[in-house]
Amino acid sequence: MKSAICWFSGAGNSKAVAHDLQQRLGYDHLLAIPEVIKNPALLTDITTLGLVFPIYFFGPPAIVRILISETLKGLELKLDYLFVILTHGGLPFYAPTITDRLLADAGYAASYVNTIAMIDTYIPLFKIPKEEKQQAIHFKIGKKIETMSSSLLAQNLRVAMRLPFARQFHNIWQNSLVKRSNKDKNFIITDQCTGCGICAQVCPVQNIVMERGQPIFLHTCEQCFACFHHCPEHAIALQRTPVRGYTWYTPPNTFISQE
Ligand SMILES: Cc1cc2nc3c(=O)[nH]c(=O)nc-3n(C[C@H](O)[C@H](O)[C@H](O)COP(=O)(O)O)c2cc1C
Ligand code: SF4
Ligand code: SF4
Repeated sequence: MKSAICWFSGAGNSKAVAHDLQQRLGYDHLLAIPEVIKNPALLTDITTLGLVFPIYFFGPPAIVRILISETLKGLELKLDYLFVILTHGGLPFYAPTITDRLLADAGYAASYVNTIAMIDTYIPLFKIPKEEKQQAIHFKIGKKIETMSSSLLAQNLRVAMRLPFARQFHNIWQNSLVKRSNKDKNFIITDQCTGCGICAQVCPVQNIVMERGQPIFLHTCEQCFACFHHCPEHAIALQRTPVRGYTWYTPPNTFISQE
């Protein structure tokens, strides 16, 4: 029996959750979803699989749709246990239902689906809370990971809720994916940019290349805001000023206390 957790993350919330879960569950592999899409053979012989990813605009990121509807569908894995953890900022809404529908269409059924509230990284609408509040939220996240791990170790069942109008919301989400890739046109690189290239390094979908010391966006954007949050100079601005002003957040590498 071989086990793996596949994760996708922008600012780093879901990456840290996936890391903590792997440590607690002792799964064999921790794999970034873009790598799995490039090399599906990484999942050969996997019988226990976990998916960890954020909710963007009320659904899974576009790359998670590719993983499920193309990679996993093509692999036809014989799984004993499949779990899905969605990280979110307080409004998971139809995302678990949409994911469930994608999985069913690809020939899979998740045994366990759960969500975990994190700090919301969508700064056009929300403000990153002050350090003290962040610590309280991190503590809660650690506790929730602990509880979920016990359930996952016991291979408990927890299915996604079947919400009404699922097909309609699924279609709305699917149509929104097309427009999303171009939304990097909303990013402005200010004079504070030093050309360090960190934005290109952290972009999880290689949507940024450096040309003559400046980041260039390639319009295959997930709108994950990793580039924005991780820029050390805060040199990425938005065409439209965020409703609550500019704030930045880089999550800890792990939410499990190291003490
Ligand atoms: C573009 C974008 C859209 C988001 N949409 C939602 C949403 O619809 N519902 C929600 O609860 N949180 C939403 N969030 C918050 C993220 O789901 C949350 O911060 C998540 O933990 C980010 O994970 P990551 O750092 O791994 O990308 C959104 C964040 C971003 C950047
Ligand atoms: S991370 Fe910021 S400073 Fe560095 S290249 Fe990107 S925009 Fe410029
Ligand atoms: S360019 Fe788009 S996908 Fe890449 S880090 Fe920035 S927001 Fe995320």
